[in-house]
Amino acid sequence: MNHESGHPVALITGAGVRLGAATASLLHSSGYNVVIHCNRSRQSAESLAQTLNTARPNSAAVLQADLVDDEQVLELGRQAIANWQRLDVLINNASAFYPTPLDSITADDWHMLFASNARAPLFLASAVARELKQQRGCVINISDLYARRGLSNHSIYTMAKAALESMTRSLARELAPDVRVNAIAPGAILWPPDENLAEDKKEAIIDKSALKRMGDPADIAHAVLFLARDASYVTGQVLHVDGGR
Ligand SMILES: NC(=O)c1ccc[n+]([C@@H]2O[C@H](COP(=O)([O-])OP(=O)(O)OC[C@H]3O[C@@H](n4cnc5c(N)ncnc54)[C@H](OP(=O)(O)O)[C@@H]3O)[C@@H](O)[C@H]2O)c1
Repeated sequence: MNHESGHPVALITGAGVRLGAATASLLHSSGYNVVIHCNRSRQSAESLAQTLNTARPNSAAVLQADLVDDEQVLELGRQAIANWQRLDVLINNASAFYPTPLDSITADDWHMLFASNARAPLFLASAVARELKQQRGCVINISDLYARRGLSNHSIYTMAKAALESMTRSLARELAPDVRVNAIAPGAILWPPDENLAEDKKEAIIDKSALKRMGDPADIAHAVLFLARDASYVTGQVLHVDGGR
């Protein structure tokens, strides 16, 4: 356990790599202490924490948890608060993403995709709500533009993200006036690591955005920072960061 912190503390799930790591880095350079959650990317998470702790001692910690396991989810919430005896921001960023064509859909897929994208965010919010109220903090849920639009072969994933956006609106009411709850719906920022999308498909996706380009992980990180630090009169919203898709 670290010592009590004068810095606000943010827990970012799935922050060992990609968008979560970019968010942890920006929040850190903006004065937050960060709890970097990971599951399989422990090595990257530790290396990120080391870099951040070199820049500012005792400012980053790593917690590992499989968000499919309810007990590990609750323990993650408890440990995140215990680390600096405070928590100001919960960022539900971790997400499983893979296709589930309707003709081969299974109950296991439902369980896996809902666990990280909807179930764990809700139970994690429940585990830390009292502390967030005390700090007058906030929750930021990372959704997806396809939650509203739908995506062929990805019905479970998009349903889980739609549930996450619905949860955003319900908790914004339930945790008010102390805690703000918002979501961000990214467009194409980084291609999925496990899905080999053909170049023409990538181009077609990019072409559908008004800005005609991919986003950058920093675009999501800056939106998170805005909602966490600067948007004190914003709650219950889904901010689309998708290049005008
Ligand atoms: N990338 C994009 O262009 C894009 C577009 C739209 C929406 N989004 C949303 O933005 C967020 C970040 O995107 P991303 O592409 O950076 O995500 P990602 O790399 O696909 O996943 C982020 C992390 O989620 C964690 N995770 C998945 N299942 C988990 C489980 N059961 N327990 C614990 N951790 C689990 C993994 O952590 P470990 O590696 O440590 O296991 C993974 O590194 C996600 O919510 C995603 O849906 C992204």
